[in-house]
Amino acid sequence: MSTQVTEQAETETEAQEETSAFQEEREAKKRQKAIERAEKERVEKRLREADETFELKVFRYDPEVEGKMEPRFDTFRVPFKKGMTVLDSLMWARDHYDSSLTFRHSCRQAICGSDALFVNGKQRLGCKTQLTDLHDQEGPPASVRVEPLPHNEVVKDLVVDMQHFYDQMESVEPYFQTNELPSGDLEEQRQTRENREKVKMSTRCIWCGACMSSCNIAAGDNQYLGPAAINKAYRFAMDEREGEDMKEHRLNIIEQEHGVWRCQTQFSCTEVCPKDIPLTEHIQELKREAVKSNLKFW
Ligand code: FES
Repeated sequence: MSTQVTEQAETETEAQEETSAFQEEREAKKRQKAIERAEKERVEKRLREADETFELKVFRYDPEVEGKMEPRFDTFRVPFKKGMTVLDSLMWARDHYDSSLTFRHSCRQAICGSDALFVNGKQRLGCKTQLTDLHDQEGPPASVRVEPLPHNEVVKDLVVDMQHFYDQMESVEPYFQTNELPSGDLEEQRQTRENREKVKMSTRCIWCGACMSSCNIAAGDNQYLGPAAINKAYRFAMDEREGEDMKEHRLNIIEQEHGVWRCQTQFSCTEVCPKDIPLTEHIQELKREAVKSNLKFW
């Protein structure tokens, strides 16, 4: 008798637990819906109050979620504010419409190089590009189209796999090397003012990959070092402190089959570089240096 009572009590407790779990789940769903409704109302209010709005079309792709594996464009209406950048508008869309919208960013001041994107048909830094830059007029363009950097594998939405780009950068040994160290412990290794001026622009590279993405040669030749890596080689090959032996070593690296000679001076890299580095010029100068170093006079 007492066993029967215990079993009945256990069954009742289980049933009560199931009911309360179900109710909790229902309450949580209700709360979530209320939050979404309130957010939607807030967005609609902001859009009504805004002087100007524009249409933001964003490339979407998620290989891990059923129903999102097909690449597509999502369109968001965004309120415009003076000084607003493409990155600001992406953040607004993510924060107010879809928190799963994925893109890289960090410094928001054109230093980290993580938000290079394909905006209205051109490689640009999202944080450096104001909406007004897209059509050289007051106010936003009617529509802004944002895609991941072309010629790269898309990981998710606007995020691309940069590994190949980093491998090419690494292959030119992008760090200072010298056999001629100063004698004193704390003595600086000085560079002349003229030499600093010469390499100044090449030091501005932020590894964003915009140049590589814009290059037709890199698109057709996966082994091509690419403008960014060659510019990095230039930065050190032209640094007088590394010495002649190291310069020769560096010229050997960039002279290879998939090195400087692949460049067809199309200037697309120079055109899109967000730091205004004269990439094509640097590549041409290295070509001349390579020829000079191979010339023999008898
Ligand atoms: Fe760092 Fe744009 S967020 S360069």
